[in-house]
Amino acid sequence: MSTEAITHDVVIVGAGLAGTWAAMIASQEGVKDIGVISKIHPLRSHSGAAQGGIAAALNNVRPIAGTGTRGPLEQIPDGEEPIDSWELHMFDTVKGSDWLGDQDAIEIMVKDAIDIVYEYEHMGCVFSRTPDGRIAQRRFGGHSTPRANYAADWTGHVLLNTIHEQAIRHDVKFYSEWYVLDLIIEDNICRGVVAMEILTGKIYPMRAKAVMFATGGYGRAYKITSNAYANTGDGVAIAYNAGIPLMDMEFVQFHPTGVYGHGILMTEACRGEGGYLTNKLGERFMDKYAPEKMELAPRDLVSRSEQSEIDQGRGTGPDNKGINLDLRHLGREKILELLPQVREIALNFSGVDIIDEPVLIQPTAHYSMGGIPTDANGQVIANADGIPVIGFYAAGECSCVSVHGANRLGTNSLLDASVFGRRAGYAIAEFIKNGAQLQSFSGDPAEANRCRINHMLENKGKESVEKIAQEIKSLMTSHCGIFRDQDKLQTGLRQLNDLQVRFKDTYIMDKSSRFNTDVLAALETGHLLTFCEVILAGALARTESRGAHARTDYPKRDDENWLKHTMARKNADNVPELNYKDVQINWDKYPPQERKY
Ligand code: FUM
Repeated sequence: MSTEAITHDVVIVGAGLAGTWAAMIASQEGVKDIGVISKIHPLRSHSGAAQGGIAAALNNVRPIAGTGTRGPLEQIPDGEEPIDSWELHMFDTVKGSDWLGDQDAIEIMVKDAIDIVYEYEHMGCVFSRTPDGRIAQRRFGGHSTPRANYAADWTGHVLLNTIHEQAIRHDVKFYSEWYVLDLIIEDNICRGVVAMEILTGKIYPMRAKAVMFATGGYGRAYKITSNAYANTGDGVAIAYNAGIPLMDMEFVQFHPTGVYGHGILMTEACRGEGGYLTNKLGERFMDKYAPEKMELAPRDLVSRSEQSEIDQGRGTGPDNKGINLDLRHLGREKILELLPQVREIALNFSGVDIIDEPVLIQPTAHYSMGGIPTDANGQVIANADGIPVIGFYAAGECSCVSVHGANRLGTNSLLDASVFGRRAGYAIAEFIKNGAQLQSFSGDPAEANRCRINHMLENKGKESVEKIAQEIKSLMTSHCGIFRDQDKLQTGLRQLNDLQVRFKDTYIMDKSSRFNTDVLAALETGHLLTFCEVILAGALARTESRGAHARTDYPKRDDENWLKHTMARKNADNVPELNYKDVQINWDKYPPQERKY
């Protein structure tokens, strides 16, 4: 049944921090017809799950002199020298990225950081406070000073609620529980999307002068992940299928502390506040891997260290595949004040009270450094030469600007989503005010998507979609996880290609149209099959170790051959074709160095 086209000046897909900032700013700048589509309730967007902080060099606190790198913090008294700066934040981010981050974009992010945190404060965000009322800051991995600005361990949640209120105040229209099926780009001009109202199953063409993707990450491609069920990489897969290249997809971040067996995040703030990681022998093993930074080394290094302990038989827990996170020495009062959410998570999912006992954790798939390539204004680019896709924007985890390079530092994700979401909002407003027009669709993409879904419903295949989804997660975990090598990656790619064939022979149980979660699961599984091929192909080609991409057969970083971004485009045979793009480096200020912690 055909449905009338919905039109807006701007359609934004995704209601986390990046999408909501962009909507709020574009509206504030005078663009009044904005629709934000979200497959879940906007306030359940995954930005809300980031716990420990948002980075910015505010210079509110410093370590007490003589207490070492992990000792207590104090407010910086008025009039005393600052210890932090955007330059230091920039250096830490460049080093954290293993020199794959684009330094022009990083500079923009760390400079904007200070202003954006104060903007949140002025909007009423309930940050934790120092005794004299400044925004509280804590340590985080890979940052050389305490610059994670936080609200206990609810930081993402309070930022998301703050910006969502502002978007509502600016009359942004939210399509809650709508699912985008397709992105329409013709002649390099983005014309809109096709979306399904999940409640009714009705499919609508949606025309817009500008479209922005802020669809988040794809941790659900792995068995153990900190990511919400919704994080199935729909945006990256849809963009790739529409002819957009994907950048640096082989760089997948594993967070060191997910609840054992579940993957749910136990914030890095646990270690920022002084928590220890110990192995089966009770050793604080990080002294072997990062003697200076210990538990506050960057995530790629800590996760690899944990995995090495486990692989060498020093893991702990029921099958010796976990690590202990010990917070007891922080004391009850500090835990209740600063880490109330993680206490609750540990109680609910492990049955452990972190006040009294260590909790078992393991590395958990957490963040995608790669994604849809953009410039620093959220403008999506079509190739390595930077040609823009007219009217198409992206920001947040689905995008790659690239500020995180090969490994993101904790607290730089809330920052990235806020800074580049806001910048995309300004760029979109300018694009609309400069006279952008609605464009027509050739053909009927909504009808094509109805046919696609009807075909899925009618298919009388042999296997369940769920079985295929589970096999993808298993193979990505075993063949493209923390440690990789040629054999594993080649086998993984072959197995994924087999799954792509088997997926054609699946069935869907629920044949109804209203809130059909079986159909959604099939669409999401199709997306996993699409972008996992890109991750595997990029990882197989990159014969070096850099940041989160650790090849046991190529253990060293190789700047001579691999100081470059991967750009993967779907070719005529439907397989990823890899090209490469230079990294933007300020050779005078931040030339590549050996990365030691
Ligand atoms: O550990 C955390 O609180 C996560 C934050 C982040 O990924 O930036």
